[in-house]
Amino acid sequence: MLRIEKLQAWYGPSHILQGVEMQVGRGEIVCLIGRNGAGKTTTLRSVMGLAGRSTGSVTFEGTSLLPLPTHRRNALGLGYVPEERRIVQGLSVRDNLRLGLLASTHKRREQDVIAEIAETFPRLAERLDQDAITMSGGEQQMLAIARAMVSRPKLIMLDEPSEGIMPVLVDEMFALFARLRDEGTTILLVEQNVELALGIADRAYIMDQGMIVHEGPAKALLADADIQERYCSV
Ligand SMILES: Nc1ncnc2c1ncn2[C@@H]1O[C@H](COP(=O)(O)OP(=O)(O)O)[C@@H](O)[C@H]1O
Ligand SMILES: [Mg+2]
Repeated sequence: MLRIEKLQAWYGPSHILQGVEMQVGRGEIVCLIGRNGAGKTTTLRSVMGLAGRSTGSVTFEGTSLLPLPTHRRNALGLGYVPEERRIVQGLSVRDNLRLGLLASTHKRREQDVIAEIAETFPRLAERLDQDAITMSGGEQQMLAIARAMVSRPKLIMLDEPSEGIMPVLVDEMFALFARLRDEGTTILLVEQNVELALGIADRAYIMDQGMIVHEGPAKALLADADIQERYCSV
């Protein structure tokens, strides 16, 4: 579904991605792990057209992405929840979801969208009129994910969704990822919580210094303490 080949990316003169090779198949949860500064966020940003200059090839369902502006990539069915959640504080949960709908190319009725989201995110359904600023970090993260799901992405990319979130909500969030996958959404997950990520993923890639240095079934990596120690300790 998503095929990344020889991807290189620069921020100004800094050469960050050095030829990334990755694939995500339809219906998979794939996780991308690696130390701080390895290039995980830059990879996701490159796929969305938000990094600096990128070369190589990124295709989504056969369409070449690198020449396209970000909104066209969204319209093809790519969703992205960045590290900074960009919840608009001072707006209600409902209004944040409306923003997701405005940004979406699907023209759907607002009440239908809200009803659908409320079913998937019961915690938000209870808080539709609450100011987003008054929600916990974990609830704000759920809202950021819900807002991305408003446009029904075929593939959603999540950048460290568990960061700074209470364990009980992290468990809820990972249960949600499993459910989204079961309902047909493909997931590319960047996570520092390696055990949790490998526990839910089908396959994993390990990145170091702008390159993929290891890949395999998540179960195999989960059992490989050596690799984890070498590449995943922050
Ligand atoms: N906007 C930027 N300008 C210059 N360098 C950046 C920028 N964003 C990230 N970098 C650098 O790119 C490298 C990879 O960063 P990043 O992709 O955020 O890594 P990760 O998400 O794996 O922690 C780091 O060395 C970081 O300092
Ligand atoms: Mg990052």
